[in-house]
Amino acid sequence: MRVTAILLAAGQGTRMRSSTPKVLHPIAGKPMIWHALEAIKQSTNERPVVVVGHGAEAVTKYLEDSAQIVLQEPLLGTGHAVMQAESLLKDKTDLVVVCYSDMPLLRGETLQALVETQKKNKGPISLLTVHSDNPRGFGRIIRNADGTVSSIVEEYVATAEQLQVKELNVGGYCFDANWLWSALRRIPKNHKKGEYYLTDTVELASKDGLSVQATVMDDLEETIGINTRVHLSECEAAMRRRINHQHMLNGVTMIDPASTYIDAGVTIGMDTVIMPNTFIQGKTEIGEGNVIGPNSIIRNSKIGNRCKVLASDLESALLEDDVDMGPFARLRKGAHLGSHVHMGNFGEVKDSHLKEGVKMGHFSYIGNAQIGANTNIGAGTITCNYDGEKKHATEIGEDVFIGSDTMLVAPLKIGNGARTGAGAIVTKNVAEDTLVVGMPARAIKKLERKAKK
Ligand code: UD1
Ligand code: CA
Repeated sequence: MRVTAILLAAGQGTRMRSSTPKVLHPIAGKPMIWHALEAIKQSTNERPVVVVGHGAEAVTKYLEDSAQIVLQEPLLGTGHAVMQAESLLKDKTDLVVVCYSDMPLLRGETLQALVETQKKNKGPISLLTVHSDNPRGFGRIIRNADGTVSSIVEEYVATAEQLQVKELNVGGYCFDANWLWSALRRIPKNHKKGEYYLTDTVELASKDGLSVQATVMDDLEETIGINTRVHLSECEAAMRRRINHQHMLNGVTMIDPASTYIDAGVTIGMDTVIMPNTFIQGKTEIGEGNVIGPNSIIRNSKIGNRCKVLASDLESALLEDDVDMGPFARLRKGAHLGSHVHMGNFGEVKDSHLKEGVKMGHFSYIGNAQIGANTNIGAGTITCNYDGEKKHATEIGEDVFIGSDTMLVAPLKIGNGARTGAGAIVTKNVAEDTLVVGMPARAIKKLERKAKK
């Protein structure tokens, strides 16, 4: 059976007071509409249709090929919005799931259950409802004396008696496709706003004596819709709890989940401990047995196993296993720390590879550099990689000892086993096993390297 979703995303979202279209506001690091599409993927088997209107250009650009897109112009309500998808879907699907793009907490499992309900329904509609004392402007579910659903009434047209109804329309539907296309044409124009409401299809079915199945949800949180930035923050908090909960079930320890901020899509291995006030964002993968935080920010990075990242900031970085970094270390784009690297306080690394066992304890800047295994970078070392116009590379060999406060003026190569004296300004390549000192540094003697442990 072909099941296709129509996601409504044309509304302006006026109450967000934003120049960004509502559905592109992020929740847990991904646009609101991404979450809706994820849930849809789980419950349908055809490419979804997204109805765009306000901010159509930006939304379309974001969606790329993930959906078929139709433009609604002008915006004449949710029923009118669904109508725009008819030409794309007529005779191409058996069931149609309709949901709103401002409900990022709605789960794929919930939509899946809705589709299953409709597969068994002899009538044309199944929909999601919830009982709540806080109506939040939702439509009210009106039932007949025998308990069957007769209509949905929007809050602003509801009578005093209807306003007392605690069963609310969540905004998730599954329709028999052929019935839907013909019913859309019969929706009456709403007099006050001149719009066509999708919710009026319920009354059409009921009056024709056809069955409308209402599934009552018990998780109120899932039904939070976003109209204002206050709702946005509520949703963010709920999504954060949900994401953290899943990681904990997967074997990740969180000392304080309430101050642990992990984006959707981040992966974390077993027995990793996340300390408080830590942000893990974007496309980040973290392995097993690490201790991350407190007070760390990790974006678009990959971390191996058994690393420690204390109070540090990582952006597009790669850590192999057993790396120990921080507090107050900063990795920028293209930083690659090999296994057993130690990076202490106030260091910065960009576009550089520190190979296995490199030690860089204090106050250094390493940019555009390759540093060989087991080399020691003394406190205050700087790769002077930028001459004001171009970046230049620094290549340091293995077992090198860079003395404190050395300035390495790139382009520069330092051979294996070489040493620089404290305060050296190195402007010329240094041969293997050579000690250089001074300003600019000059060779003073040939060294004998100790045998490796
Ligand atoms: C809608 C429901 C209401 C339900 C509530 C749940 C209708 C008439 N009402 O009300 O019963 O309780 O959601 O959150 O459906 N949209 C378009 N084109 C339009 C109008 C809206 O694409 O012309 C989209 C919006 O972008 C939004 C969704 O449809 O994603 C819902 O529209 P909105 O105006 O937020 O409806 P509500 O008043 O919240
Ligand atoms: Ca809404």
